[in-house]
Amino acid sequence: MQDPVRRHHIDLQDDPILPVSKRGKALLSDPLLNKGTGFPDSERDAFGIRGLVPPQVVSIDDQVQRVMENFHRKDSDLERYIHLEALHDRNETLYYRVLLQYIRELTPIVYTPTVGKACQHFGHIYRRARGMYFSAGELPYFTDMVHNWPEPEVDVIVVTDGSRILGLGDLGANGMGIPIGKLALYVVGAGVYPCKTLPVLLDVGTDNVALRDDPLYLGERIPRLADDAFFEVVESFVTAVQSRWPEALIQFEDFSNNHAFPLLERYRDMVLCFNDDIQGTGAVTLAGLLSALRVCGEPLSAQRVLFFGAGSAARGIADTIVAAAMAQDGLSLDAARHLIWMMDSEGLVTQERLDRLAPHKRDYAHNEPPAQDLLDVIGHVKPTVLIGVSKQPDAFSEPVIREMHRHTRHPIIFPLSNPTAKAECTAEQAYHWTNGAVLFASGSPFKPVTVGGRIFVPGQCNNLYIFPGVGMGAVTFRIRRITDQMFLAAARTLADQVGEESLAAGRLLPDLGAIRELSARIAVAVGEVAFNEGLTTMKRPPDLLTYVKQRMFYPSYVPYEAV
Ligand code: NAI
Repeated sequence: MQDPVRRHHIDLQDDPILPVSKRGKALLSDPLLNKGTGFPDSERDAFGIRGLVPPQVVSIDDQVQRVMENFHRKDSDLERYIHLEALHDRNETLYYRVLLQYIRELTPIVYTPTVGKACQHFGHIYRRARGMYFSAGELPYFTDMVHNWPEPEVDVIVVTDGSRILGLGDLGANGMGIPIGKLALYVVGAGVYPCKTLPVLLDVGTDNVALRDDPLYLGERIPRLADDAFFEVVESFVTAVQSRWPEALIQFEDFSNNHAFPLLERYRDMVLCFNDDIQGTGAVTLAGLLSALRVCGEPLSAQRVLFFGAGSAARGIADTIVAAAMAQDGLSLDAARHLIWMMDSEGLVTQERLDRLAPHKRDYAHNEPPAQDLLDVIGHVKPTVLIGVSKQPDAFSEPVIREMHRHTRHPIIFPLSNPTAKAECTAEQAYHWTNGAVLFASGSPFKPVTVGGRIFVPGQCNNLYIFPGVGMGAVTFRIRRITDQMFLAAARTLADQVGEESLAAGRLLPDLGAIRELSARIAVAVGEVAFNEGLTTMKRPPDLLTYVKQRMFYPSYVPYEAV
């Protein structure tokens, strides 16, 4: 029998007693229902748990303390990740309570940068299956396989093929750590119900030969599929999940950019989906940029934005900036695109290279002579904003940063490459080389920096600010399609939440501690767009913010009643 905790969470608001059918060991072994030593005496009696756990009844707050005590005893971040994942597999309520309470400390463990290491070692640290694997060899079974998932409802699916994991490249089936981590952040950040999340790994092989040769590798030991076969696997996967959960949101994640763009193009008007690397990154970076422009007191239309790196992230951010410049400064599409410059591994993206350029770069090719060197390009273009999405550590060298500062009072410099070791420069370097004048945000977190007696708190362009709220908005307001206008609304809402005090300390993005409130507001902003554009299937509730907040999962132990 399906325990109702999984079906009727909304009823919890009115009736916080859960009818539960499992007993004894089965109840203790179900991570969604387990309370461990937190079961009160009455439930130990009612569910046959007496004697199966130590006699002391422990409050959830004390359990949190025990988890954190053990966490701090571990001597590496990878061990800390394993410790938290073991808890995730044992007791989800406690796992999310710990994450929510220690979000600033734990986000870098359950997500970037540590999740990158966890993916690299996935087959070696593997304990227990989580989520679903759809592999090319099982394609004929996809439609049946979706029925193996034990939960009747799924709200959010995060899917990767492991082809471009953070800045670490092709990690094949090891990429599963990413959907698991992202969905944990959906729960923590926006209160999506844990039982309604589904992490998915599409196993279409790997070109990472070292992985294929690793005896503990858990994926298919075949080279990546050619394009036609790849797209067929994705199509079968989308059809299969749609056949069981037609309203579920599909988030495409960490696909290599030769596939990320075509997948988004194909599915964005067909199913409820988005690509976080493209659209989520665009929105969070735009939010950071809007905050920086509040400090400089300048409009978006007066900026020249140079991207170092011209992949998925660059295109997503560029398109979002363009959409914002058109919407708020009234620029034409051409004029807005003219604000953007891009460099890739072959240098400046120019018209002269047009027939050799990947399609996603063509709209941003300038009619300029070729240039290879970043320093030369900065000298020529005189950008006010420099964004690093190249995965080239140290690319923003001292001369590069000083050159940015030479022609701009407050250069806006965002080294976004992840993990930390891939960042184009560190916060320390950017603040020191500009004497504190830089407006800085990074992809991975950096500690505060002191320059000339002033303490600067680097902001992190963490997609966590955006995707949980967008996803929560989509599922709560039964949105049919996710549009660029929704991401624009999310970015503006996020930027509006940065207070003057934060800006004074150089912090361009809000404190993560307020993530639930931020996500609720973003969900509302997304809902507003959907209601205005007729993109939802539900009637507009009178108060959107209250409506969202009432539907957020909060990790606490609710009383159980035996059925
Ligand atoms: P990608 O692989 O699609 O693009 C990388 C780009 O860098 C390519 O255009 C490539 O030509 C260029 N590149 C490589 N070597 C170069 C060189 N020597 N000089 C100039 N360009 C060079 O990767 P994607 O998805 O665009 O991500 C890039 C980085 O941004 C990753 O490290 C990723 O983790 C990070 N990222 C950060 C986010 C955030 O902070 N919120 C969100 C998404 C991505």
